Amino acid sequence: MKGIILAGGNGTRLYPLTKAVSKQLMPIYDKPMVYYPLATLIEAGIHEILIITTPQDLPLYQRLLGNGSRIGCSFSYIEQAEPNGLAQAFILGEEFINNEPVALILGDNLFYGTRFIDQLKKHASLDGGMIFASKVCDPQRYGIVQFDSNKKVIDIEEKPTHPKSSFAVPGIYFYDNTVVEKAKKLRPSKRGELEITDLNRLYMVEERLQVEVLDHGTAWLDTGTIESLMEASQFVQVIQSRQGVLVGAIEAAAYHSGSIDQEQLRHLAEEFKGNVYGDYLKSLISN
Ligand code: DAU
Repeated sequence: MKGIILAGGNGTRLYPLTKAVSKQLMPIYDKPMVYYPLATLIEAGIHEILIITTPQDLPLYQRLLGNGSRIGCSFSYIEQAEPNGLAQAFILGEEFINNEPVALILGDNLFYGTRFIDQLKKHASLDGGMIFASKVCDPQRYGIVQFDSNKKVIDIEEKPTHPKSSFAVPGIYFYDNTVVEKAKKLRPSKRGELEITDLNRLYMVEERLQVEVLDHGTAWLDTGTIESLMEASQFVQVIQSRQGVLVGAIEAAAYHSGSIDQEQLRHLAEEFKGNVYGDYLKSLISN
């Protein structure tokens, strides 16, 4: 399965913080934000990844992440000239997707939990679409899904004023190879975007949209507001200092998912010699 990270948008909600630098490059505690969704894909065994961002930010991502070969992955890049909606990712990524199943993750969504990674791995080959659901207190801010006891989706709405359920759809989506053709059928919503929720509706109408509820051991944080950005940093700091793990370390994710071996990890740890990040990578080798 291939993966796409969507890391564009104007980031205006976080101005002036994001006026000069892409939102998804902002620090979440000790790493750039994009490391977290990237590590999630890699850990799930998705090693061929397309990064979509704005024309002005693209060189920054290339400088940060390169072509992925240092961690046994392949990263490619495409510009999104205007933030025309999440579902545009599949139209821009048509050539990359090349008729294969694909996972999309938003560059500003952070997931944490080992069981979540196991849940993701199950969907490496799938028929239809797969989304997740997580109970939230502020459903008006998200895509909202309603489903029956068989986890069959019966309704899905984008940021409804009167939500019919409190299950939000987190920013990670799995689709079969009909996704490009479906994305091309979409028309811009009232806010002028090709909505991921409308794409999910197309799968729902075909009765080919599955939903999985995130269990309590999985944390999902988004970083849409300045408060949630701060909370995400605090979350990462607490987990790291209590559990002695580094959340969102892409080299560690590569090692755990088998895209690099011990020797390559040892070499990568040298790049960060004398800092906590490098010490952590080295500690994985001796364990
Ligand atoms: O966080 C999960 C939510 O993400 C879902 O529940 C919603 O259904 C989905 O529409 C989305 O809602 P947001 O309001 O968070 O979407 P936003 O416009 O903030 O975009 C999410 C990220 O994607 C953000 O980091 C910017 C980036 N983006 C957005 C658009 C519209 C792009 O890279 N390109 C785009 O065209």
